[in-house]
Amino acid sequence: MPPRLLSLPVCEQRRQVLWKKQKKNGLLSVLKLKKPVSKRQSTMSPQIIKPYNIVILTGAGISAESGIPTFRAADGLWENHRVQDVATPEGFMHDPELVQRFYNERRAVLHSDNIKPNAAHEALARLQREHKGKVTLVTQNIDNLHERAGSTGVIHMHGELLKVRCVETDHIYDWEGDVTAQSRCTCCTPANWLRPHVVWFGEIPVGLEEISDAMDDVDLFVAIGTSGNVYPAAGFVSEARAMGAKTIEINLEPANNNHLFNDGLYGLASEKVPQWVDSLLSET
Ligand SMILES: NC(=O)c1ccc[n+]([C@@H]2O[C@H](COP(=O)([O-])OP(=O)(O)OC[C@H]3O[C@@H](n4cnc5c(N)ncnc54)[C@H](O)[C@@H]3O)[C@@H](O)[C@H]2O)c1
Ligand SMILES: [Zn+2]
Repeated sequence: MPPRLLSLPVCEQRRQVLWKKQKKNGLLSVLKLKKPVSKRQSTMSPQIIKPYNIVILTGAGISAESGIPTFRAADGLWENHRVQDVATPEGFMHDPELVQRFYNERRAVLHSDNIKPNAAHEALARLQREHKGKVTLVTQNIDNLHERAGSTGVIHMHGELLKVRCVETDHIYDWEGDVTAQSRCTCCTPANWLRPHVVWFGEIPVGLEEISDAMDDVDLFVAIGTSGNVYPAAGFVSEARAMGAKTIEINLEPANNNHLFNDGLYGLASEKVPQWVDSLLSET
């Protein structure tokens, strides 16, 4: 059964309540809260359905069928390494060579012939092209498969494998190959070390402000292939609900925070995501 799509009236009611409250408090200009649809579109034909805003959060599960293993496999290891060793600032300080080698290997994998976007990445790119409202794509993935499928403006909240940054200035560089013992930045004199542009545990994710802006007028929030273990991403569903948005989980199996979703579609991302996108585009 395709999910029942966002009920506009419910969401609109919530927006109207918020709008009235902010108007009363004289906060409209500060919060930039939009007029409810009924006021914005009062002169429009009733057949026109407001294009609504979708925020999508993807995790490692969407790339699993593209040949990139997920993180929290049953053994709790990431590609046979303890997470503390390869995904924390302490791990990097303790053994920078091991950490650079780990990310060099991950980067090299992205260039192998057998790694390519799957039908789920492609369906989301199609949704971005064809949906009339705003589609904000936030990913926890550090791979480039959304971009390779044609998605644009992807917010990589945990960084990107194909980028490195200066340890001193945080200047970001595109980086396709290995980081070697000789690799240095060009932003400092003397030149400094480079580190993977990846958000490790204990570090602040990238793009939180942009994500928060998207959440301000979210109507539908969809989490795909994420275990609901890693915060703040695991908390986005609650923020979306607080804004009156409908929430859907698409995953192999229910995630830890699954009780927070209105609907769940369970199975392979390569099957469930295209089905969901088809049904959504046919209804809007
Ligand atoms: N592709 C990548 O870039 C990549 C890969 C591994 C880990 N990571 C990093 O590890 C962290 C992992 O957290 P996470 O929640 O994204 O992933 P996770 O590995 O913790 O969870 C993966 C989720 O995907 C589901 N899943 C597995 N195969 C699936 C499929 N074929 N279809 C649909 N769902 C499937 C699992 O049931 C699970 O819920 C992130 O911070 C990310 O930066 C990234
Ligand atoms: Zn520098």
